[in-house]
Amino acid sequence: MSDLVLEARRVADIEEAEHEVYVPDPGVVEHSYIKDPDAFYAESVKDIPAFWESQAEGLDWYKKWDRVLDDSRAPFYRWFVGGKTNIVLNALDRHVKTWRKNKLALIWEGEPGDSRTMSYYALNREVNKFSNVLRGMGVKKGDRVTIYMGRIPEIMVAMLACAKIGAIHSVVFGGFSENALGDRIEDAQSRVLITQDGNWLRGKVIDLKTIVDAAIRRSPVVEKVIVVQRANNAVNMEAGRDFWYHDLMSLPIAMTSSETEVMEATDPLYMLYTSGSTGKPKGLVHLHGGYQVGIASTLKYAFDVSDEDRWWCAADPGWVTGHSYIVYAPLILGLTSFMYEGAPNFPYPDRWWQLIAKYGISHFYTAPTAIRGLMRFGPAWPKRHDLSTLKVLGTVGEPINPEAWRWYYRYVGQNRCPVIDTWWQTETGAFMITPTPARALKPGSATRPFPGIVADVVDENGESTEADQEGFLVIKHPWPAMLAGIYGDPDRYVNTYWGKFPGVYLAGDAARKDADGYFWVIGRIDDVINVSGHRLGTAEIESALVSHPAVAEAAAIGLPDEVKGQGIHCWVLLRNGYQASDALAEDLKLHVRREISPIASPDKIYFPSTLPKTRSGKIMRRVLKARALGMAEGDVSTLEE
Ligand code: WTA
Repeated sequence: MSDLVLEARRVADIEEAEHEVYVPDPGVVEHSYIKDPDAFYAESVKDIPAFWESQAEGLDWYKKWDRVLDDSRAPFYRWFVGGKTNIVLNALDRHVKTWRKNKLALIWEGEPGDSRTMSYYALNREVNKFSNVLRGMGVKKGDRVTIYMGRIPEIMVAMLACAKIGAIHSVVFGGFSENALGDRIEDAQSRVLITQDGNWLRGKVIDLKTIVDAAIRRSPVVEKVIVVQRANNAVNMEAGRDFWYHDLMSLPIAMTSSETEVMEATDPLYMLYTSGSTGKPKGLVHLHGGYQVGIASTLKYAFDVSDEDRWWCAADPGWVTGHSYIVYAPLILGLTSFMYEGAPNFPYPDRWWQLIAKYGISHFYTAPTAIRGLMRFGPAWPKRHDLSTLKVLGTVGEPINPEAWRWYYRYVGQNRCPVIDTWWQTETGAFMITPTPARALKPGSATRPFPGIVADVVDENGESTEADQEGFLVIKHPWPAMLAGIYGDPDRYVNTYWGKFPGVYLAGDAARKDADGYFWVIGRIDDVINVSGHRLGTAEIESALVSHPAVAEAAAIGLPDEVKGQGIHCWVLLRNGYQASDALAEDLKLHVRREISPIASPDKIYFPSTLPKTRSGKIMRRVLKARALGMAEGDVSTLEE
């Protein structure tokens, strides 16, 4: 299908969906924590700090806060100031003192079919032991530890052990290449790195350790590497630098008891890199206190989870969705989570549906791109399995097209499970615009803001737009799980998020509100591409391209893609002496994969003779996009070409 037809179909689909309302089942409403979403919301925003304070009361603190919200150094807002806590106090310590110590915290299945379980007691024991190992290696409060792993239980152990001793974890998604990993190690100045010998994906072992070795050669900041044995992969172990996790865990130093570090509510918990419009990925920082309050309340209310449920967030722990809703929030709520190592369509496109049936999953949370990918194989695959344990479904990462929403609702949710479309960002830490199960749904709309969140759509002057008018998605009041800043770059934090409208957080998305006040997120307004729910900056892709000897200049844009949401299209000007060819295009794709990650691999490479530029020399990506879609080029008065 041509890009233009695809785009037209998407728009028509959304127009239809606006009038398609799914009223919640009375049974769902009865079971829901929030029975009347509008009334609950109205109450929550009468006094926003008081609302979040009431949420914080439900968690454990070593010492309660002096002030709920400190805005004296805005936009560096700080929550629960003076409070003392540690997210591990709520995620583990408080549970092992109750009956929950015998409850399963984690059920895990590997791609080859092997499985493991861990009770809260067992998880806490492993975390304690590993926290002692880290301390023994000299890791202290405030030190940064890089984690580069796949979906195995030890990634949770590693993150929690860091948090327990007050170290700041920096998890790098296991799909990133050596260069991307090296940049992140260097920016964070991590002296310790935790990885594994390999992880299973689509029948093959991904050799993470070899990538780590190459990254450290580039960025020799790392002094110690801890390697979890997962895949019996023969890896190079450098004496004095590399240690097996299981060897360390059997040393006397790995005692089963360990003190949880008492942290200020405003101390950093982790940093996580994400792409922006320009330059290198930025390390966003989240804090112990407000973050735990935000993620726990959002998961509880948006999904109506309780003790008897089995929660499966099918994201990767390497992204914010995994941090908030695989690792921390489910543990804080004392839930049983399921984690799966492999891909959804291997060996067959019903692997996920089979796992839902096998483990009796009640809540399932994934991304639109995965749904679209599985939808292509037809409804026979989900129909083959007993999905009757499911109660609530969710999606995240990009706008879900109504067609995919309906398929998910019909064939996975069997016309009875609400689809919770959660809009949020690495920056926001927790859901911002999302239905709760008792809300009437429209396919493709994230519906309305979560309680305590003031979201709006505004025009260029910061005024709220009329119904159905597109504008900037903004947040008008600080919220507890908000990012604290960008690691080492306070100015960039202020300019990126608070520079356009004073006192108002600019999300970087375009959106509109319909006549019912429902939000329809359209997509990024900046040079960020959303490929299969993964955020990539055009600048990163372009700088990877120009690092190839054949490339003089490059421009990358996202264009509609049936499965991935957006595909990456690149226009490349060659240096003298190089000829455009299919072979060169393939080589450039491979080069980007190696430089960043397979997820950044361009779908199409074009070799034009010029690029549309402004007179000041900036490439006009907007014009490239309009041309590719056969649409009007808009204002081209500044075009030099
Ligand atoms: C997009 C992922 C529409 C959006 C949690 C945002 C969405 C970016 C949705 C953040 C949604 C995420 N509907 N768009 N439900 N969820 N997005 O930081 O463009 O990886 O700005 O966080 O994803 O991506 P990030």
